[in-house]
Amino acid sequence: MRILITGVSGFVGRHLVNRLLQQNEFVVAGTGRAAIRPEHLPAPVQYLPLDLLNPVAVLDVVTAFQPDIVIHSAAMSKPNDCEEQQTLCYAVNVQATQHVIDACTAINCRLLFMSTDFVFGDNGPFTEDDAYNAVNYYGQSKVLAEGLVKNSGLLWSIVRTVLVYGPQLPGLNPTFPQWVWRNLQEGKTIRVFTDQYRTATYVADLTEGIVSIIEQKATGVYHLCGEETFTPFDIAQLVAAHGAFDAQLVQPVTRAEFAEPARRPIRSTLHIAKAKSKLGYAPRSLSQVLPLLF
Ligand SMILES: NC(=O)c1ccc[n+]([C@@H]2O[C@H](COP(=O)([O-])OP(=O)(O)OC[C@H]3O[C@@H](n4cnc5c(N)ncnc54)[C@H](OP(=O)(O)O)[C@@H]3O)[C@@H](O)[C@H]2O)c1
Repeated sequence: MRILITGVSGFVGRHLVNRLLQQNEFVVAGTGRAAIRPEHLPAPVQYLPLDLLNPVAVLDVVTAFQPDIVIHSAAMSKPNDCEEQQTLCYAVNVQATQHVIDACTAINCRLLFMSTDFVFGDNGPFTEDDAYNAVNYYGQSKVLAEGLVKNSGLLWSIVRTVLVYGPQLPGLNPTFPQWVWRNLQEGKTIRVFTDQYRTATYVADLTEGIVSIIEQKATGVYHLCGEETFTPFDIAQLVAAHGAFDAQLVQPVTRAEFAEPARRPIRSTLHIAKAKSKLGYAPRSLSQVLPLLF
């Protein structure tokens, strides 16, 4: 099976490549904005430089590679950036998704679109069928893109995931638990939110779920995230306990005290019953993952 990943240099894209290469039947290519092949990309992966904002280039790349499925992971993924640069966010998250859909339509291949809990608002947990209620522009852009995917006429799947964390890869920023670990190790005080509830996702669980969707040719919307609900403060305290660091270094902060350009949903937690029953999805608990990370 031929698989094309957009955003192959992103956190999810890089972990996904590593997971897909464990299976010989997958022939994998990835697109990125860089003209030159990224150093980190494993040798078996074909690298295809691509400006997703250019519909002709998207069509050319997809037509040349002839994927069975495109995993559209590239996005402007930082909510504050999206809030402050809405025109660019619309182009990258919505218009580029239409370009990918058009290219998939031209060669009649499947599409898996990476989406987010931020399509919802404050009152989770949410099922796959709950109504959208994005509270920031990033979430709104993903709502619009999901609409394009759902109406595309393609065989499509949408994966909504949440606050993904996992091993730090060279050249990428640490995910939340590593950021906490590093600060506490250096004896620094950190201030973390107590009023944002998330079903955080271990990246290896996410990539396993995506492989299940690919193999089972599953269509529709799937929530692939953790099963436990934590605030960032909870996670930081668990990391502190795991590292036997001074718990007093973890200080609580609320949204009211620390305003950000993009408002965050209070409780954008997701139900995963559908993924568990239909895909056999079985995410690990944070206490199982922490010893794997540190
Ligand atoms: N990580 C999370 O916690 C999380 C949670 C929910 C949903 N998601 C979704 O999951 C997907 C992957 O997330 P991620 O964490 O891997 O994101 P990421 O690390 O920010 O990577 C984003 C990727 O998108 C590409 N990209 C950004 N702007 C682009 C543009 N203008 N044109 C072309 N490519 C562009 C980047 O390509 P270059 O490297 O080539 O610049 C990068 O590879 C995204 O769709 C995101 O919305 C992530």
